[in-house]
Amino acid sequence: MAEHNDRTHQTRILPMEATKLGHFSDKSTDTGMPLEDWHLELDTTTQDGKDLELAASNLKSSDVPVAFPTETVYGLGADATRSAAVKGIYQAKQRPSDNPLIVHIASLKQLRKLLSTSDSSPNVDPIPQIYHPLIQRFWPGPITIILPVPQDSKLAPEVTAGLRTFGARMPRNLLALALIKTADVPVAAPSANASTKPSPTAAEHVRYDLDGRIELIVDGGPCDVGVESTVVDGLSSPPAVLRPGGIGIDLIKTVPGWENTVVGYHDVSLKGDAAPRAPGMKYRHYSPKAPVMLVEATGGKQPHISDLSRQLGSSGSLGLVRTKTWKSLLNKRFTVWDMCIGPDTADVARGLFSALRELDRKDVDAIIVEGIDDGEGDIAAAVMNRLRKAAEVKLEQL
Ligand code: TXA
Ligand code: MG
Repeated sequence: MAEHNDRTHQTRILPMEATKLGHFSDKSTDTGMPLEDWHLELDTTTQDGKDLELAASNLKSSDVPVAFPTETVYGLGADATRSAAVKGIYQAKQRPSDNPLIVHIASLKQLRKLLSTSDSSPNVDPIPQIYHPLIQRFWPGPITIILPVPQDSKLAPEVTAGLRTFGARMPRNLLALALIKTADVPVAAPSANASTKPSPTAAEHVRYDLDGRIELIVDGGPCDVGVESTVVDGLSSPPAVLRPGGIGIDLIKTVPGWENTVVGYHDVSLKGDAAPRAPGMKYRHYSPKAPVMLVEATGGKQPHISDLSRQLGSSGSLGLVRTKTWKSLLNKRFTVWDMCIGPDTADVARGLFSALRELDRKDVDAIIVEGIDDGEGDIAAAVMNRLRKAAEVKLEQL
């Protein structure tokens, strides 16, 4: 298969610490907005500084994407203004280029430059007013805003997938900010996993999926948040959450102008859906190799071993991901790889993708996950959204 031939690169992990990069200074005039403009005096006498310079120069001029940490998940970045570079992302991920990508920026100045057209007035802020309080509150951070693609946009068409809007985000991770700032280009970046796999929350996850397909992985340690950013559309009325993520809808609703925000995504809740889903019937997403069985929190009880054997047949090994209340499962029938990633919801989000990947490496035959209540309007909605996509089979109410 072509797969082998595609693995032509020597993939290097570059461990990096923000404190060793040099001197960060604020250049903002007092607009009350975060990271208006700033400067990094890169110290290229340190290995970290040299490595960042290399990663930034690859971003700027190579067509092979660079993996880097953000506070949500690791991203696979390319210069959003060059088609060949953006195509490199899809090639590395082995994914068709049908999805719009998020554009990452390091300062508001950089975003304004991207939004301006030749005839824009210098007195009008090209960032729509509705977003100002949201940016003030959550940027840099795990929220992506939908913006109009300006006339004569510099963005490569592969980034917007033909839409008249695009998503922009200012990440909170200092390495991500330093990389984008030093490359001095807007960076298109989906999660740095191979297509269909859980998103990577550590550099090792990226290497596992993309070894030989990319050259550089900036390693900033494990991600803080663990699920992708919340995508919001403030151009529509009322504003809508298009993808649940790191910032919950309840918090968004506390921002002036965002009180009436609605859920604009369709979550395939498996609640009340008695029929198990046949593997392969839909595009797999966030999925480890083993089938994921999700028990919705409203289903309540922890499944008993006899229920599991009915569902799993003769399967020999089972991964168990516990979150809030389940107890470890002792039995003689299966080998159980037991992981507890809760009970805090933030910990569940942080540990979820990593747990799924670890169980994959143990080669379990099935993974059963204790769902959490997503009625709270917080990051639990993002956790359950990803889990429902990963789950192929639902255990009937037990
Ligand atoms: O946390 C994150 O957002 C991560 C890290 C790496 O920053 N990035 C990420 O990027 O998840 P990506 O490109 O996989 O996210 C793309 C998603 C699309 O599936 C869609 O939900 C939304 O962002 N999106 C992007 N552009 C859009 C647009 N013009 N209209 C509606 N949704 C859009
Ligand atoms: Mg992704």
